[in-house]
Amino acid sequence: MVRHMLSSLLLLWSFSHELYLTELKYDSLTEQSWKNQNLYSVPLDLDIRLRRLDLSNNFIRQLQTLVLPYLEQLDLSTNQLDFISEAAFENLTQLEELNLSRNALNNNTGVNSKALQSISGLKSLDISFNSLSDGAVELYLRNKYSLDQLKMTGNALTRLSHSLFKESKGLRAITIDDNRISVIEEGTFEPLRQLEMLNLAKNNLAHICDFKLRQLKYLNLSRNSVEFFVTREDDQLYRLEILDLSYNKLLYFPIVPKMNRLKYLHLQNNVLGSLNSEAAMVSQANYLYNEIFNEKTIRKNYLHANWRLMPLKYFDLSYNHFRTFPVETFSLLSSLETLILSNNCLQNIIWNIRNYSDSGERRQLYFPSLKHLVLQGNGLVNISPLFLGALKKIETLNLQENSVQPCAFIDHLRSSRTTQQMNLITSCVAFEQLRTLKHLNLKENNIKMLPPNAFQKTSLVSLNLARNTHMVMHEGALEGVRATLESLIISEINITSSDLTLPCMPALTQLKISNNHLDILPSSLSCSPLREIDIRNNAFIALNHSLMDTLSVHLKLMYISGNTFNCCDSKWLIILNELKIKLPDISDTKCFTPGNSNIAVTEYLKIPLFHCLLHTTAQKVHFGQMLIVVLFLFVVLTVFIIWTRNLCCTERSCIV
Ligand SMILES: *[C@@H]1O[C@H](CO)[C@@H](O)[C@H](O)[C@H]1NC(C)=O
Ligand SMILES: *[C@@H]1O[C@H](CO)[C@@H](O)[C@H](O)[C@H]1NC(C)=O
Ligand SMILES: *[C@@H]1O[C@H](CO)[C@@H](O)[C@H](O)[C@H]1NC(C)=O
Ligand SMILES: *[C@@H]1O[C@H](CO)[C@@H](O)[C@H](O)[C@H]1NC(C)=O
Ligand SMILES: *[C@@H]1O[C@H](CO)[C@@H](O)[C@H](O)[C@H]1NC(C)=O
Ligand SMILES: *[C@@H]1O[C@H](CO)[C@@H](O)[C@H](O)[C@H]1NC(C)=O
Ligand SMILES: *[C@@H]1O[C@H](CO)[C@@H](O)[C@H](O)[C@H]1NC(C)=O
Repeated sequence: MVRHMLSSLLLLWSFSHELYLTELKYDSLTEQSWKNQNLYSVPLDLDIRLRRLDLSNNFIRQLQTLVLPYLEQLDLSTNQLDFISEAAFENLTQLEELNLSRNALNNNTGVNSKALQSISGLKSLDISFNSLSDGAVELYLRNKYSLDQLKMTGNALTRLSHSLFKESKGLRAITIDDNRISVIEEGTFEPLRQLEMLNLAKNNLAHICDFKLRQLKYLNLSRNSVEFFVTREDDQLYRLEILDLSYNKLLYFPIVPKMNRLKYLHLQNNVLGSLNSEAAMVSQANYLYNEIFNEKTIRKNYLHANWRLMPLKYFDLSYNHFRTFPVETFSLLSSLETLILSNNCLQNIIWNIRNYSDSGERRQLYFPSLKHLVLQGNGLVNISPLFLGALKKIETLNLQENSVQPCAFIDHLRSSRTTQQMNLITSCVAFEQLRTLKHLNLKENNIKMLPPNAFQKTSLVSLNLARNTHMVMHEGALEGVRATLESLIISEINITSSDLTLPCMPALTQLKISNNHLDILPSSLSCSPLREIDIRNNAFIALNHSLMDTLSVHLKLMYISGNTFNCCDSKWLIILNELKIKLPDISDTKCFTPGNSNIAVTEYLKIPLFHCLLHTTAQKVHFGQMLIVVLFLFVVLTVFIIWTRNLCCTERSCIV
């Protein structure tokens, strides 16, 4: 019985072993890489069973007939191919993927195209960077009925004609970026029913007057010269999900299809928002629509009608010219989660919305899904409280590089008149309305005063106050968020230890206080489970070792360079070093010794006793000298006393 089991186990083992071996053989047989081998021609003795062959990065100039009936993938990219013999591919009946990028296929297009026309089963073709002209490409794309993916990056195409893809209508993805295309004839892409992904970035396209590609999911028109993008309104469903029109010359909002699935819209680096008012922006876009489609009778707000139905989640409008925040237009985007308006010219966000015309009743608008709002680099001073109140779901607010002053918290039940007056005098931003806010970035706002309870009622988890060089932090500034705050950055605020009071923050795990004038760590930090501390470039001489001992329980990472540490008062450093806490900048950290020489902390740590023993012996010498002096004085004094007493006695005896 046992023997039987053993033999069957053995059998199993040898079987699986053999299987493993054949698999190994199979792989090396069917796949070969000759990449980067200084080849000037295709090796002659190729195994006929090959399925994949990589001949990239060589110097092959000519290709003769290849007889590899099982070959599925052939990579000839980065060679010097300019001649492919007519029959070269004839026997590659299984070939599905061919990479010919970075060759010289602009040469001998007649012969080369005949060779390419003989492989009809091709699914993926890459002919990027071959200096191909319009005519050459048209020849190379003949007889490609099963082509699924085509890459033609970096060629010399100028005009896409409607006959270009007539024999490759099954294409699903086309990349023609980095060419010089300025004209796309009508009917070029429309017949490609499977087309989902079209990349036309880095060309010379100027106008998209009548967008019709309902089948597309991804369209990249970044880095062209597009001035407008207009879709004629119809009731068809467009599948477009991602539209990139960044780095163009858009003056007006694009008019997208009415029924769409657009989720990501990239409009950064254009000239949008140059018009003074929201009403002007909207009416200009609609005017353009009417002009293009010659509709003079019906006056309709196409822009708003279409935006209202758009399921947009992500909207990038950074590096444009917005001077006003188009509140009404953006509030139509009810699914919008991320809005990026950094580097525009918004100095104020005012709540200037049209009321219902008949009743004169006030209209309340919301941004019902907006979670992330980026307003960095705008010079913002005022933000209307009505606007903040409309941000019902806001989690991240980036206000870096603006001029925002936080208001003091007004407790409306027990409002002290002075704080209210203070808030009225200086135009300030009342963060207390943002109940859902988790991440606030106020770096570089030239904040003068961080008033008490500035962030009361928010749920702040991270707060960045860096580079507010003149900021005075009120003792109770962080009071409202001390229980939730996990990350605090107060670097480069030019603060001294006597001006810095931090509350007990039981959730704080990251603290950055670099580039200040601090010499003492606030002892309230013992409340915090800090994992990361940055104290670079301050005035620390030593750190409180009992505090560091407490903190070392959670501490993982600490930056310490740029301080003037005392080597001989470095119990804290020895604690950190022994607990293997990561000190990435320790090699740039110096400390001074009693001899007043600066040495690298790493040097000091190698033989700490040596450097500071000198220090203690120096003290001993000093003490010894003192002792000798004292003894000497004592002796002199006694001698003197004895001598004077003797003198007295003799004198007295004289008198007596
Ligand atoms: C190569 O293909 C041609 C044409 O299909 C055929 O006549 C020839 O026999 C093939 N050669 C080999 C070696 O398979
Ligand atoms: C073709 O090769 C180039 C260079 O090796 C590579 O960058 C490119 O991604 C390849 N094309 C395809 C479709 O894999
Ligand atoms: C082939 O291309 C090279 C440059 O890549 C050029 O010098 C040469 O004249 C071309 N030959 C033909 C036949 O076009
Ligand atoms: C569009 O193309 C540009 C340029 O190639 C690229 O940087 C960008 O990431 C692309 N956009 C998207 C959304 O993929
Ligand atoms: C809308 O109505 C409110 C109150 O009724 C008023 O304060 C506001 O100025 C009006 N807005 C406009 C743009 O007319
Ligand atoms: C930092 O504060 C000192 C006074 O404490 C002041 O003289 C100095 O100009 C300030 N530095 C900056 C960059 O604001
Ligand atoms: C060192 O920190 C502890 C808290 O861990 C505190 O009680 C003590 O007063 C601090 N010592 C100095 C000199 O600041």
